[in-house]
Amino acid sequence: MVKRALGTCYYPEHWPREQWPEDAQRMAKLGLQWVRIGEFAWSRIEPAYGEFDWQWLDEAIEVLGKAGLKVVLGTPTATPPRWMIDRHPDMVAVDEQGNPRKFGSRRHYCFSHLGFQAESQRITEMFAKRYGLNKHVVAWQTDNEYGCHDTVISYSPPAQQAFRAWCEAKYKTIQALNEAWGNVFWSMEYSSFEQIDLPNLTVTEANPAHRMAFRRFSSDQVVQFNRQQVDIIRQYTDAPVAHNYMGRITEFDHFDVGDDLDIASWDSYPLGFLEDRIVADDQFKHDHARQGHPDFQAFHHDLYRAVGKGRWWVMEQQPGPVNWAPYNPAPLRGMVRLWTWEAFAHGAENVVYFRWRQAPFAQEQMHSGLLRPDSETAPAFDEAAQVVRELNDLGDDDHVQSDVALVFDYQSNWATDIQPQGKDCHYFDLVFDHYCALRKLGLSVDILPPTCADLSAYKLVLIPGLTTLSDPLRQAIKNFDGTVLAGPRTNAKTSEFAIPTPLPPNLPGLNCTIEYVESLRSTISIELENGGALGKWREEISGEFNVVEKTLKGVPAVVEQNNMIYVAAWLDQSALGRVLGQICAQNQIETEIMPASVRRRDTRTQHFYFNYGATAQEIAGQTIEPAGVFWKPKSST
Ligand code: GAL
Repeated sequence: MVKRALGTCYYPEHWPREQWPEDAQRMAKLGLQWVRIGEFAWSRIEPAYGEFDWQWLDEAIEVLGKAGLKVVLGTPTATPPRWMIDRHPDMVAVDEQGNPRKFGSRRHYCFSHLGFQAESQRITEMFAKRYGLNKHVVAWQTDNEYGCHDTVISYSPPAQQAFRAWCEAKYKTIQALNEAWGNVFWSMEYSSFEQIDLPNLTVTEANPAHRMAFRRFSSDQVVQFNRQQVDIIRQYTDAPVAHNYMGRITEFDHFDVGDDLDIASWDSYPLGFLEDRIVADDQFKHDHARQGHPDFQAFHHDLYRAVGKGRWWVMEQQPGPVNWAPYNPAPLRGMVRLWTWEAFAHGAENVVYFRWRQAPFAQEQMHSGLLRPDSETAPAFDEAAQVVRELNDLGDDDHVQSDVALVFDYQSNWATDIQPQGKDCHYFDLVFDHYCALRKLGLSVDILPPTCADLSAYKLVLIPGLTTLSDPLRQAIKNFDGTVLAGPRTNAKTSEFAIPTPLPPNLPGLNCTIEYVESLRSTISIELENGGALGKWREEISGEFNVVEKTLKGVPAVVEQNNMIYVAAWLDQSALGRVLGQICAQNQIETEIMPASVRRRDTRTQHFYFNYGATAQEIAGQTIEPAGVFWKPKSST
């Protein structure tokens, strides 16, 4: 059973002490159970190197705990104080142009800097020693949003040193590295690991194999940095350890980081994401400006449920206008409640609002909270109160296994960052298009890591764009009785970023060869015989398959053999929806076509419906207003 609860992010260091007891009591009275603190407070804990002031934090934890709140304590390593830069002037990350990134905001560190790694371990140990057994500190958070503000990849001298060592550990000899990367091309051969540079500032593009190795290395640095903190925290407490990931941050492998943690959590800002991180036309953004994309939050809920191996939270939930997107509208009344319920419907344990009170100063003064800067309630406060009442009525529930799974792979994302081949051909967008098409059919979806070794729980598994098929997944597909949908671009490269032979897609059960691929400018769209169109990307294929979909000119676009469906193009939503609908019908997967921007999500006991649209819709015998949410027990269907 998943226990559902609410919380808020709080910064006691921003407010006078006299205010803390009242804040804590108001949180508890509202029905919040969790409060996250500490993650940016390094300068107040250690105002100068080696000089500590713990008293205020001791007291804040005590005040919050006494009010009945459970504390999530964050390590403060995302905000090293100014004196740290004097101790380690070269600790900052360096951008692709070779410019050091300055002090004056946050995340100003390079993951590879050994001096800063030691500082991070030192402060983590001080935190863990002091609060590991504190009865009010019930969970931990490492750092804050690894990768946010483009902070994974650093072209610093320490990164260069560490990358050389990483290459040596992986390839053992320089000949093996030259061979693996194909360095005979353009006379790029090295004679020692010391000659290897980072792949920036080259005259034209650097070798994609070199770039891929650097992306893997950069991801491993995040994993290692996080692990250093986790190993320390675990010496002092049995409380679960989480990290708060972000939306569409893909520069490190979250599955790898997640392997070391107990809980995955993420920071959900639906309106900021719509304006800032989502590819969609202007009309769509206009229509969803106050609600957000109907599938973007859900996608991350499902992704982070997988990263957390089942245990996940929303650690920061948008409560009103934010400050950081190109436009920052207020949510439609009801959306904060909707977003909260949607997270619970996807299996979240806790939804924690960011933040308790709007800060009148500094960078985020235009970012709303549950309270206004004058401590009066902001609109989200009442919506949180409504969720508390509803939680009391509905109680806890469980995630339920879906029929359909979709593989998401960070390395494939790096591969299309490095070599999109067509301007808009990004892995994330391809996978997300599939996710959206599934959701428009009313389906609940599980996301799986690319190393998944057992698919037997599913009826349908999708692996679009998965650059390299791992051995365990290949074996799992061989053993699988259900249907697999692959392509375009699935299994298109070796793990060293070369074109494999036999030529792609080389998938179990499918006799098909890609003769060549082409990317298409946005003005070219090729209609399919049964409706809808393909665009962006197309593959010319030959083989012994059944043709499921073809273009008006009779060119195969979707083919099938032995329950392996291969999609040889980037399909639009209409074509993809039809193809997936047919596959579901053939595999006894129940679908329910969603009107407009309504979406459904099933738990063990309920069907939940959410209206992300700007107009009322009819679904499941009910009218659902904009920002509406309703649920009905599964037995009543
Ligand atoms: C998150 C971050 C928070 C706050 C918030 C504002 O990315 O973790 O500290 O900055 O955004 O929306």
